Amino acid sequence: MTVSRKFRRNRKSVNETPASLLTTMSHEKDKEAAAKAAMQFVHDGMVLGLGTGSTALFAIRMLGERVKDGLRIAGIATSTGSEKLAAEANIPLTDFDHTQTIDVTIDGADEFDPKLNLIKGGGGALLREKIVASASRQVVIIADSSKQVATLGKFPLPVEVIGFAQALIARKISALGATVKLRQGADGKAYITDEGHHILDCSFGSIADPSGLARQLSAMPGIVEHGLFIGMASVILVAKDGAVQELRRG
Ligand code: 5RP
Repeated sequence: MTVSRKFRRNRKSVNETPASLLTTMSHEKDKEAAAKAAMQFVHDGMVLGLGTGSTALFAIRMLGERVKDGLRIAGIATSTGSEKLAAEANIPLTDFDHTQTIDVTIDGADEFDPKLNLIKGGGGALLREKIVASASRQVVIIADSSKQVATLGKFPLPVEVIGFAQALIARKISALGATVKLRQGADGKAYITDEGHHILDCSFGSIADPSGLARQLSAMPGIVEHGLFIGMASVILVAKDGAVQELRRG
């Protein structure tokens, strides 16, 4: 399995200092707390979008426990990785051939701003994640407080591109002011998404107009999808030191 740059970066290093280890541990506890809070949105008979990443993993495991206790749900996974995790947790799976509307999607995010706009795709699943979110009545984002920012852009924006157009798109996005890097897998080769595309990680530093940038990127032939999720989150459950706050769009 290829491991994305982000997952490698998140792996604990043997040189990790006690302070950073404590921070990592408290983020893990907060991810779990946010996932637990998301369970209130889940009801019997629902079709659920299953997110991707280390925070969504907690939610998938909790859903598995509830299925064991008799909850009847069907899940649509946002990645092959999450599909595997859901199958391991005995969550019945469905797909868009059988269901077109998802009641609730529970997913993580790399960054969110005060308007609940998101950067997603750190785990490489942004295309399926955006499709699943677009088909969902409610999108519940779960996150630890390190994901909360005043302005999006510190986290490099993932942009999924067709290999053929990669160099062209990289130049066009650089011209918009970003430093662009082709994401690599653990083997040093270009990271390949579930749909067979490449990802450009685009460091903008600060994105003053996320909606405008989203429009510009969507208009570039060769870009399959970008990780700006504008106006898609219904609720963000953000956890800090174990306390979960529910944020909604005003
Ligand atoms: C995957 C995503 C994830 O939701 C995002 O990267 C957050 O991941 P994590 O919960 O591991 O921090 O967008 O494509």
